[in-house]
Amino acid sequence: MPRPISHRRLLASLWCLLPVLLMLVAAPSALAQGREPGGFRLGEALYQRHCAVCHDDPKDRTPGRAGLSRLRASEILSATTDGMMRGQAQGLTPQQLQAIASFLTAKPSPDTNAPKLSAASMGARCGTPATTTIDLDRAAWRGWGNDLRNTRHQAAPGLKPEDVPRLKPRWVYAFDASMTVGQPVVFDGRLFVGSQSGEVISLDAKSGCTHWTRRFPAPVRTAISLARLPEAHGGRIAAFFGDDRGWVHAVDAMSGDVLWSRKLDEHVAARITGAPALHEGRLYVPVSSGEEGWAQQPSYTCCTFRGSVVALDIATGQTVWRTYTLDVPASPYRRNRIGTQQFGPAGAAVWVSPTIDTKRGQLYIGTGNSYTDVEEGRSDAILAIELASGRLRWVNQITPGDNYVMPCTRPGLAGTGNCPQALGPDFDFGSSPILSSLPDGRELLLVGQKSGYLYALDPDSGQRVWEIAVGAGSALGGIQWGMAADADTLYVPVADPYRRAGGPPPQPGVYAVKIADGRLRWSWPAPAPVCAWGTRRCLASNSAATTVIPGVVFAGAADGHLRAHRSSDGQVIWDFDTAAEVYAAVNGGHATGGSIDNGGPIVVDGMVFVNSGYGRQLARAGNALFAFSVDGK
Ligand code: HEC
Repeated sequence: MPRPISHRRLLASLWCLLPVLLMLVAAPSALAQGREPGGFRLGEALYQRHCAVCHDDPKDRTPGRAGLSRLRASEILSATTDGMMRGQAQGLTPQQLQAIASFLTAKPSPDTNAPKLSAASMGARCGTPATTTIDLDRAAWRGWGNDLRNTRHQAAPGLKPEDVPRLKPRWVYAFDASMTVGQPVVFDGRLFVGSQSGEVISLDAKSGCTHWTRRFPAPVRTAISLARLPEAHGGRIAAFFGDDRGWVHAVDAMSGDVLWSRKLDEHVAARITGAPALHEGRLYVPVSSGEEGWAQQPSYTCCTFRGSVVALDIATGQTVWRTYTLDVPASPYRRNRIGTQQFGPAGAAVWVSPTIDTKRGQLYIGTGNSYTDVEEGRSDAILAIELASGRLRWVNQITPGDNYVMPCTRPGLAGTGNCPQALGPDFDFGSSPILSSLPDGRELLLVGQKSGYLYALDPDSGQRVWEIAVGAGSALGGIQWGMAADADTLYVPVADPYRRAGGPPPQPGVYAVKIADGRLRWSWPAPAPVCAWGTRRCLASNSAATTVIPGVVFAGAADGHLRAHRSSDGQVIWDFDTAAEVYAAVNGGHATGGSIDNGGPIVVDGMVFVNSGYGRQLARAGNALFAFSVDGK
């Protein structure tokens, strides 16, 4: 079992342990340049002029200044040079951007200056593996939803409900990154996970030792899938994932060597956040974007991105087909207040991992909001697409007219800049649809929205069968990242971090809904949050995806707690605060949890794995990957 270290002891030990050398080596840009008086003042002035208007008064998804300060200088630089903030940083020189990054990341007190020990330098490497391959038929958590239907259900978890209260950390891994993203997967005793720093990591699931790590140029937050390549292509087991700049990569699962990489969309804001779905030699990749953020710059020609699904051949990465969510590309439609040409329609990004229906030969996706006033009909919608050809079979647009970019919720901004005339509620579908097969043979497609509504659709027609509101909904509320289903019940996490203007009171928690008729079986309202880090960014949100094994539902929360609920009545049978302690990480250095958000826990072969420290939006950052087992053995 890893050794918990009290915060105070950690600080003391950091003081004695930290070689001065390491500080000099690890943080030259952030400290040396930030402390240099002239550079510091320049950085502050530039920040005030170019960034403060949004980041000192954060709204919606804008991180506050404190949030930016928790990033690394290199991450701020990459966001402003070729990431989401490139538009905001237009016209600033590399030196000026460095000055802003140094200003933001310079820390006032010595203890927070302590750099985290690098995983690479301290990593406990695994010995030579006993086998040189991975048996894909053995115990696994596959991709995002564990199965093609995206149920997030593990039927044979190797963990009985009565053992769950005895779960304890067996090891904790420290990411070499400012926050955690996404969700790990496990295949035949090997764990694979991406990270905010772009590092993709393969660990031994039982011991946490490192098989390999490889750094990619952009954050990797999609869950990873594994498949054997055809013999003609070497027959190796490959691991597939997408990155935050719109690339898909295939690597050798044993070594991490890159087999192929493909950029799927040349749009500057394109990114892949939903896990590619893998089926019979093809990857079905959802393409999303950060253009909502670019829109804030009135000089940016907005908006031109449209979501898509791209089918790729797993052996070569070649495109088989591509289907856009919006059937026509954007065209010019008006000028904004400073005269910049505006384009539309745009949006309907795909944030979810596609759900595969082998019987009907189709896949399902949910789409995000529209970015402009131009009517389209495919945003905030569920789409069924033919697997063989990419042909669109049906569309059910749940929320028309949800035109939304950032940061237009500021009073008086509607219709200005690139803001739509009438701002929508930002009710994307961010959770993968679940294709449920009921005991009586009926099938229903279950979809959850940020509005707090849950819908069951007929998979043949897309027609609504039932609906129920389980949350109040908001831009960060309702059903955010994913639900789980067993044979007859759907387990729904509700985020609802705040009250939407004019909306009903938030109701974060976990809800169990009968799949056959949409009736509520039980609800478990989230308790008032108590966060190990204090009251700032301390929310009760159940925003992370839930996971179910026979008898037990696992739900992570923004307050850092991972809880196990009895699936029959919702009663909490285990509650672990992932942020309560700082851990000596299995790879060296220290691991600290934060909010559990975005990806959910996975359960494989008697162990539970979860990332803690998703630091976006309202959440608290951390760097910990937890592996739990019964009694930590
Ligand atoms: C007009 C408003 C606005 C301005 C000006 C602005 N930002 Fe941002 N920034 C945002 C929003 C909104 C987000 C969140 C985007 C998202 O989550 O999609 C963001 C995100 C970020 C992030 C996190 C990026 C990531 O990958 O998560 C960084 C770093 C950042 N901004 C730095 C800056 C810097 C440095 C400046 C000044 C040069 C700046 N921003 C100017 C609105 C702004």
